[in-house]
Amino acid sequence: MLTSAALLALATAVAARKCHDLTIPISISSRNAVFNLPAPVTECQVNQFFLDFVRPGFNITDNYLKGYNTVTGHYTIAATYCQPDHGPGKTLQILTHGVAFDRTYWDHPLNNHEYSYVAQAVDHHGYSTFAWDRLGVGHSSKGDPVNEIQKSLELAALTQLSTLLRSGSVKGVDAKFDKFVHVGHSFGSAMTYNFINQNPGFSDAAVLTGYSQNPGFLAGFALGGNFKPVKEISSLAGSYPAGYVGVPSTIGFEIQFFAPDDFDPKMLSYATKHAQPATPGELLTLSSGGGDINAFNGSVLIITGERDVPFCGGNCSDTTTIQGAYSDLIAASEPFFPNATFSSVVVPNAGHGLNLGYSSQSAYDSIFEFLESTL
Ligand SMILES: *[C@@H]1O[C@H](CO)[C@@H](O)[C@H](O)[C@H]1NC(C)=O
Ligand SMILES: *[C@@H]1O[C@H](CO)[C@@H](O)[C@H](O)[C@H]1NC(C)=O
Ligand SMILES: *[C@@H]1O[C@H](CO)[C@@H](O)[C@H](O)[C@H]1NC(C)=O
Ligand SMILES: *[C@@H]1O[C@H](CO)[C@@H](O)[C@H](O)[C@H]1NC(C)=O
Repeated sequence: MLTSAALLALATAVAARKCHDLTIPISISSRNAVFNLPAPVTECQVNQFFLDFVRPGFNITDNYLKGYNTVTGHYTIAATYCQPDHGPGKTLQILTHGVAFDRTYWDHPLNNHEYSYVAQAVDHHGYSTFAWDRLGVGHSSKGDPVNEIQKSLELAALTQLSTLLRSGSVKGVDAKFDKFVHVGHSFGSAMTYNFINQNPGFSDAAVLTGYSQNPGFLAGFALGGNFKPVKEISSLAGSYPAGYVGVPSTIGFEIQFFAPDDFDPKMLSYATKHAQPATPGELLTLSSGGGDINAFNGSVLIITGERDVPFCGGNCSDTTTIQGAYSDLIAASEPFFPNATFSSVVVPNAGHGLNLGYSSQSAYDSIFEFLESTL
């Protein structure tokens, strides 16, 4: 039997990458929506919110929208920077996680980091990586769950972090990079989509994982999760203000993130136990800017699991909703990128939590093949 110290030493010996945690102060402002919605704090209010969220013929965002307001603030961002043992990579990947996770989504520890995207990127392909806890989540600053922690403010954080990294002004990242790649998952992909549209010349490539531009499939995710008020989830109650909502059970988490026969039950229980909550403000602003034609002029890959529930309804190959105009629901994003070099991949058998399934290796192979062919 190995002691945990011996196991740790072994893990460190295998994973040659050097990583350290960062705490980064930022000052940002954004044009936020003002919603006339009291933060949902009881189970009944949370259920009502999600029933309204999915109701056909009813636009919940519009229903609660009172106007817009500039939100300005100083916040703290928690992040982890990794680089190869021998020194920084030429290219920095900026990794933005989705709802229900924090930055550990990219460097999952299960089975000695067998599922880790960061391990592949740094140890096998020589990149440096910067993974951050989105503003409002994990060890980054929290805020008002309705009118503050929204997509536009989190996007302002991503923009400032990207700018600081490019100018070499993040304390603890002593490197200048030739190239940048923005990678997102789910809500993090929706943010990355807006980022590359607003800053079309910034990144050389972008990878949007667990994403599509078909907004018709969110109901399964929204209702299937069985969201609860954060104050009723014992692991999170002490760390988040009332009004956040989370998925407390393996049933909800499996429906949202895992495809049948594609996951280790140990991964499901670990990921559920470490899940992070979301804000109503994020959910109400999730799709903003997602239907705009994108100005990005680098290379973009959209890669999504075949069985993804929120973005494909559980089958990306069923083209009924797009009248068969494209080979699958991911390829259907091509016309949104008139100035970019566009690629798309549907990962066989994979669910929405792309990095957490047995199929993650196949997803990573596609991503690194794309990056190596384009950078
Ligand atoms: C819902 O309302 C918001 C706010 O008015 C608007 O931006 C959005 O386009 C609407 N969505 C749909 C699908 O009509
Ligand atoms: C991409 O767009 C940026 C910003 O508009 C511009 O500076 C850059 O030259 C463009 N690159 C190419 C390859 O067109
Ligand atoms: C694509 O590039 C052309 C030429 O630079 C530019 O005029 C056009 O606005 C760009 N398209 C988008 C959607 O930004
Ligand atoms: C997905 O839809 C396609 C086209 O309708 C169908 O051929 C295929 O069997 C479906 N896949 C699954 C996993 O149900």
